[in-house]
Amino acid sequence: MNMLEFIQTRRDGGRHSEEDIKAFVAALTKAELPDYQVSAWLMAAFFQPLSLDETTWLTQAMAASGETLDLTGLPKPWVDKHSTGGVGDKTTIVLLPLLAACGLTMVKMSGRGLGITGGTVDKLESIPGFRTDLSPDEMIAQARRIGIAWTGQTPNLAPADKILYALRDATATVENIPLIVSSILSKKIAGGADVIELDVKCGSGAFMKDLKTAKALAQSLSEVAKRCGKEVHAVVTDMDQPLGRTVGNALEIVEAIEVLKGEKGRFRDLCVDLARRTLTITGKDPRLAGELLDNGKAFAKFKEWVEAQGGDPVIADDPSRLPVAPVIQEVLWQGDSGYAARVDAGAVGLAVVRLGGGRESKADRIDPSVGVEVRIEVGEPIKQGQPVFRVHAASETAAQEAAISLESAIKVSPQPVEMRPLVLAEF
Ligand code: URA
Repeated sequence: MNMLEFIQTRRDGGRHSEEDIKAFVAALTKAELPDYQVSAWLMAAFFQPLSLDETTWLTQAMAASGETLDLTGLPKPWVDKHSTGGVGDKTTIVLLPLLAACGLTMVKMSGRGLGITGGTVDKLESIPGFRTDLSPDEMIAQARRIGIAWTGQTPNLAPADKILYALRDATATVENIPLIVSSILSKKIAGGADVIELDVKCGSGAFMKDLKTAKALAQSLSEVAKRCGKEVHAVVTDMDQPLGRTVGNALEIVEAIEVLKGEKGRFRDLCVDLARRTLTITGKDPRLAGELLDNGKAFAKFKEWVEAQGGDPVIADDPSRLPVAPVIQEVLWQGDSGYAARVDAGAVGLAVVRLGGGRESKADRIDPSVGVEVRIEVGEPIKQGQPVFRVHAASETAAQEAAISLESAIKVSPQPVEMRPLVLAEF
């Protein structure tokens, strides 16, 4: 391929052909292109965004750049769910067993957390023995047995995205919708599912801070996935306050278990809402979502899943076997009484990263035991002196620092405040 012409076309706002994009991805995957040329193209693509056609071709070419999961023979539908990530977002841990218990084949590859948004891999690794590195053959065998094929990211699926993403990270070209869409969807398509439920998070605790950009991303993900022949449903959901009542790896596993055992609340509401939408598009009865959480079938499937991946299933009945932090400190509200107008997910996420529960850089090790319990929701009355957070920390000093930073996460209004809806838009 002629990389110089490819860069010039992008720089001047021209259009790439499907063949050019395929040739670019092939050369990229074979490491035939110098980083400086790929970086120049990325910056040109940042300022001259790819069209929907070009984004679709890039997605397909990246999806085909490595191994793909062949699910032939497994019961249909094959469903993947994807969240763009947020503070306290543990929906995968509930939705996979819930929807598998409803008879869907759930196929999912999850990533590690970076920055304030946690990763499902880190959360599940807090379960002693839980394997996050299943091979494609192991995934398929497990899906056949229990309806769930789940693994952490493998380097062989969509390797072109891995190369491109590393360069985007190093050249300030991550925040571009066509590049984000092709990156996310190439991995989903290589994963083999034919139905994709997309949850685009919006707010201070998410990658997309404002509704306009979150909607644009959801719409574009939905459109490109359809052009790639996938059945998709995309929603934009609130991430301005933490999701649920815990943030931190082992703490979130405990909360997910409680929801799988029937606990009610805003986090369960989101899980049920997403599950109902997925059941509806796959032609199943949406009422199953709430029923299987209440009758123990989703919980039983969770135990089966933990055991199948080598984890200790006893944690499901006895979560005290999960890592526990040595220091627990209550944070009491010092300000005026009134109504909680804001519980800033971004601030809570940052406090958890500083406690050691998240990564500031890819090489950081995380502490699965630390985190924050969030004991107030937007819209609830709040009184001076009431407990608003419970910090789980590795030391007294870390707990104290977190407690101080968390005080500024809450804003109070003297007047009643309406709760933000969970689902802000759908496509
Ligand atoms: N997640 C991805 O997988 N890719 C992006 O570009 C952004 C978020």
